Amino acid sequence: MIEKFSYGKTADGKEVFRYRITNNPGAYVDLITYGATVDRICVPDKNGDLADILVGFDDIEGHETRSNYQGQTVGRYANRIANGVFSIDGVEYRLTQNEKGKTCLHGGGELSHAVWNAIIIDDNAVEMTYSSPDGAQGFPGNVDFKVVFTFSDRNELKIDYFAKTDKKTVINLTNHAYFNLDGEGSGDILGTVLKIDADRFTPTDEDSIPTGELRDVTGTAFDFREPKPIGKDIGADDEQLKMCKGYDHNFCLNGGEGPAVTAYSPVSGRAVDVYTDLAGVQLYTGNFLNGTRAGKGGRPIDRHAGFCLETQFYPNTPNTPSFPQCTVEAGGKFLSSTMFKFYIKK
Ligand code: GLA
Repeated sequence: MIEKFSYGKTADGKEVFRYRITNNPGAYVDLITYGATVDRICVPDKNGDLADILVGFDDIEGHETRSNYQGQTVGRYANRIANGVFSIDGVEYRLTQNEKGKTCLHGGGELSHAVWNAIIIDDNAVEMTYSSPDGAQGFPGNVDFKVVFTFSDRNELKIDYFAKTDKKTVINLTNHAYFNLDGEGSGDILGTVLKIDADRFTPTDEDSIPTGELRDVTGTAFDFREPKPIGKDIGADDEQLKMCKGYDHNFCLNGGEGPAVTAYSPVSGRAVDVYTDLAGVQLYTGNFLNGTRAGKGGRPIDRHAGFCLETQFYPNTPNTPSFPQCTVEAGGKFLSSTMFKFYIKK
């Protein structure tokens, strides 16, 4: 079942809507058209109690003014492009440098802060669309974006991304949900047990730009091939962790049959398996959240209040020929899919 509500207006007067997809067992997902945002995910714990497991905001003003991309669809190019510049076929494109006046982060925030159009396409699916003009944030091509959110009776949230462009361009889309499997506002996520199916990760420079190295995780704090609590090695004597004050790194997924990532909280029993057709996932442990911004219920969003699993092409791909490329030809299409499957682990 899907219900549609008004979610108020943006500062510049655009009306925003909220869609609630409730499945037959009674779990639900809220989506808002500002930023094509996953606003709430309410799934049961081991006692059958529902709680909202997404860190975020209660109103449009929070999403507009206090957000660090909470739940938003990010793009055109999720993650960073070094020095806000890249080239295609010898033509240089200069992008919005919205991070430290240097890097282009999350496509300059364009998709995250746009009001998308939405339609209900099934009793458990909502489609959102947004058209970005040629030259937006410096990127080439008129690009039509479409994101379809489906929430099944098995508590699977599937996010399908589509885009088509009239000019050769780069596209990298993800969702920036901050999960707290014990329920948002219930403390830090350091006890959440994580398993990532990745033999390698991409170490970065001080601007969080990959150096190009694919580093073996063996013997490092980045080895999540066997499940371990996020907090176990987060304070390890590792220059990569120190630089980012925790995990904020892209893992190179092995691409095996099973889930790319599994997260599980022994406290609530809630677990999530993440499946994706993409080659990378950014694990961000909310290192730079610092309690100065109010979230849901007016509570401060503290350090490590949530963790993000941003499925993606590797950061700075357009400037790193050795990485799997995300170029889409003129007239070509971008397709990608990520699924979060929530369940209870006893
Ligand atoms: C963005 C990125 C995260 C992290 C933060 C730092 O949200 O997606 O990976 O780098 O910025 O504030």
